[in-house]
Amino acid sequence: MEFQEYLHTLRVWDVELPQFDPEAAPDEPVALFQEWLMHAGRAGQAEPHTMSLATVDGEGRPDVRTLMLHGADGGGWSFGSHSTSAKGRQLAACPSAALGFYWPAVGRQVRVRGAVRPAGAEASQADLHARSTGALAAALVGHQSEVLGSVSELAVASESAWAQAAASPDAPVPSWTLYVLNPVEVEFFQGDARRRHVRLRYRREGAGWVRELLWP
Ligand SMILES: Cc1cc2nc3c(=O)[nH]c(=O)nc-3n(C[C@H](O)[C@H](O)[C@H](O)COP(=O)(O)O)c2cc1C
Repeated sequence: MEFQEYLHTLRVWDVELPQFDPEAAPDEPVALFQEWLMHAGRAGQAEPHTMSLATVDGEGRPDVRTLMLHGADGGGWSFGSHSTSAKGRQLAACPSAALGFYWPAVGRQVRVRGAVRPAGAEASQADLHARSTGALAAALVGHQSEVLGSVSELAVASESAWAQAAASPDAPVPSWTLYVLNPVEVEFFQGDARRRHVRLRYRREGAGWVRELLWP
């Protein structure tokens, strides 16, 4: 019971929430997304660039995990990972995904859905080498999502990867892949204390976007 009671004590949006006027929203979603992410960070939201990535495997079973956002512009929403990981295999079998961002500091959520494609080897390696030594070391360790025999096995592999990353900042990691999600739907959700949440969905239609409000 202790857990249930604890859950009941928890609240959402115990903060001053910003206003969102969907009438004033731009014609396309990327500019609004960039504005919301920067606004959330400036409002004190930790790690606003982390997101949930949902994929589906070859049997139609969904999966989800947290990733870093590497970019969002006219080309799409991008993220990096190993093509040999569970998510990499799922994206190969079913090249569609959904992203979820939640920024409790401002009571906002953004959802993005669309087809995913690998950006290509050159862009993928450039993305990796533009990041920190730690990011390269982590990528060099490899074997993501494989069963690990012991913690010490990881420690040995990681030590060697850190040394290699420090000595060769351009060391290639062939499985490292920059993925780009081309959005067909982007939804902006602004929480409201009276539960009159504002939901604005952009839906791709032809070369443009249809904007529509959704019941909360
Ligand atoms: C805050 C945070 C950020 C992460 N960023 C990444 C990332 O950018 N790329 C990545 O491959 N894994 C990242 N991970 C690890 C993933 O959540 C996941 O454990 C890993 O990618 C294996 O997922 P899979 O087995 O579904 O392929 C991150 C985890 C956390 C908690």
